[in-house]
Amino acid sequence: MSKYWIAATLFLLVSCNQEQKTVTYEEIPDAKDVHSYAQPQIAKITHLDLDLSIDFSDHIISGTASYDIETAENADQIILDVNNLNIDSVWLGEANGNRIPTTFQVGSATDFMGAPLTIDISPNTNKITVRYSTNPEAAALQWLEPVQTLGKSDPFLFTQGQAILTRTWIPIQDSPGIRYTYSARVQVPSGLLALMSASNPMEKSDDGLYSFEMQQPIPAYLMALAVGNIEFQAISDRTGVYAEPGMLEDAAYEMADLEKMVVATESLYGPYLWDRYDLIVLPPSFPFGGMENPRLTFATPTIIAGDRSLTALVAHELAHSWSGNLVTNATWDDFWLNEGHTVYIERRIMEALYGRPYSEMLAKLGLQDLTATIDDMGPASEDSHLKLSLDGRDPDDGMNDVAYEKGYLLLRTLEELAGREIFDAYLKAYFEAYKFKSLSTEQWESYVHQHLIDPHDLDIDLSAWLYAPGIPAEHAQPVSNKFDQVDRHASEFIRLGRLDRSSTKDWSTHEWLHFIRQIPADLHVSFYEKLDDVYALSDSGNSEILAAWLEKSIQSGYLRDHNLPQLRAFLVEVGRRKFLSPLYRALKENGELALAREIFEEARPNYHSVSSNSISALLGDSEAI
Ligand code: BES
Ligand code: ZN
Repeated sequence: MSKYWIAATLFLLVSCNQEQKTVTYEEIPDAKDVHSYAQPQIAKITHLDLDLSIDFSDHIISGTASYDIETAENADQIILDVNNLNIDSVWLGEANGNRIPTTFQVGSATDFMGAPLTIDISPNTNKITVRYSTNPEAAALQWLEPVQTLGKSDPFLFTQGQAILTRTWIPIQDSPGIRYTYSARVQVPSGLLALMSASNPMEKSDDGLYSFEMQQPIPAYLMALAVGNIEFQAISDRTGVYAEPGMLEDAAYEMADLEKMVVATESLYGPYLWDRYDLIVLPPSFPFGGMENPRLTFATPTIIAGDRSLTALVAHELAHSWSGNLVTNATWDDFWLNEGHTVYIERRIMEALYGRPYSEMLAKLGLQDLTATIDDMGPASEDSHLKLSLDGRDPDDGMNDVAYEKGYLLLRTLEELAGREIFDAYLKAYFEAYKFKSLSTEQWESYVHQHLIDPHDLDIDLSAWLYAPGIPAEHAQPVSNKFDQVDRHASEFIRLGRLDRSSTKDWSTHEWLHFIRQIPADLHVSFYEKLDDVYALSDSGNSEILAAWLEKSIQSGYLRDHNLPQLRAFLVEVGRRKFLSPLYRALKENGELALAREIFEEARPNYHSVSSNSISALLGDSEAI
């Protein structure tokens, strides 16, 4: 038994015996989370127990949520976040125990924030229960009809909690600074498998009833559920993949290095503290590349390239098991703490497994993304600060390349200033110091000063990185000889129209992406025709290459001349926002708004709310939900 478990068990034993628990104040970050109504300093949840049933015909989740709570002295209320939920009844005590009636109130709802659910409690209340149901339009949930799945015979449901969508399917204190453990029982139609961000079944049950346990405290945005005709295949003793049966073998092939990735990360940053690491490949409407739901990463099928070339995404989601899930941003203004550290670790994992030249290609592409994003925002935009200020805005608005790539660049710059050995020790100690805690940018700043910058006398203007726009001049510079070769090839093509298959035959996805990015959009359409003739880019089965190519095809006019049906097919099938936004934007900015709207109308039923809201806003469609 590890020390951690002994401590956790003791804590449970002690707390169960207490008449009334008190809030341990130092666990709550000082940072105020403007995206939650909860007041954890007065009353906060410490454990959630769900008893839910999933109704696929009406698209409703219903049941009870019981909470263990800790209260400050004299607390007479606890506030949860709810958004578009039907609250049937609330009582003090357990779901099936002695019910003490109480009063509650749902405040007025605003847009993306939802409303506070205020429950009256008495001084010795340590358990409350809410009976509730979701709305068919719940923003976190996507209900797929059988035709929208690979197997075409069973429906599918998945959730997406980050940033503040969990409150649309569970009444909860929906703040990344509040952690709790959970257990759940979920009833689904028999023949389907249910999975959560918790201990998971490996095969279907006869009665469609599943039980889950998450013994490590997590914030609400990491609550997750997937239900469908899903099967499991092991990769190693502690890793494996879940997918629809028709996808399982390809998924397992692609994920062959999962165990190696876990081992590499552990040797850098200490033990993996979540027991198993599995991954589920979802249907193509999943709005993200990946989502780091603890113990069970949710992933888009667009990473299944057949050649394992897009597995940096898996390294990324795995890395969140340290940066994000173990050590968490206190508020969404501190989002870069999650993503910047995660991109840094992702690239260290890729370097450990596939070598420096490989990870440097990723770093170069990241820097290109960052430069383009910041150019787009303009040099003075406060959205290019690492520390954001999202008060009054949907946190989703602040989630762009800046957090990922400027965050990465800051950490890499620190690594280069300190030297790798010192930086590795620093980062490992940071995870140890803050494990199962949330922290703000300001807390991080003082930690990094105290443990890295000051003792090693590093010369860096941290304020410029954290609280000012743009990229500070002192940033680290990734170096890629592989990309230098690609540059030579691209420039020969642009100047002379020359292509040489022998020099491109060993290119990885990343070299292709770099090549496509180098081709000017205003190059004559005949150049695009030639590229497509020689390399059949419009028929690429690699989603990253296809998306990059289609974007250029729109910008250059090649699409207009060739009416690429591949564009429509891709936009209708794939719901991953990272691909959709640039493509719809390119259509809009290149005189194809009508086509964009027409495709969107056809595709929209396939998109999760996260993607359809973004595309609605982009295309100026007033029907956004
Ligand atoms: N946690 C994010 C996804 C996310 C961010 C969901 C913000 C909701 C709000 C996840 O770890 C992520 O970053 N996914 C990336 C992949 C990665 C390789 C950059 C994605 O989905 O593209
Ligand atoms: Zn991430």
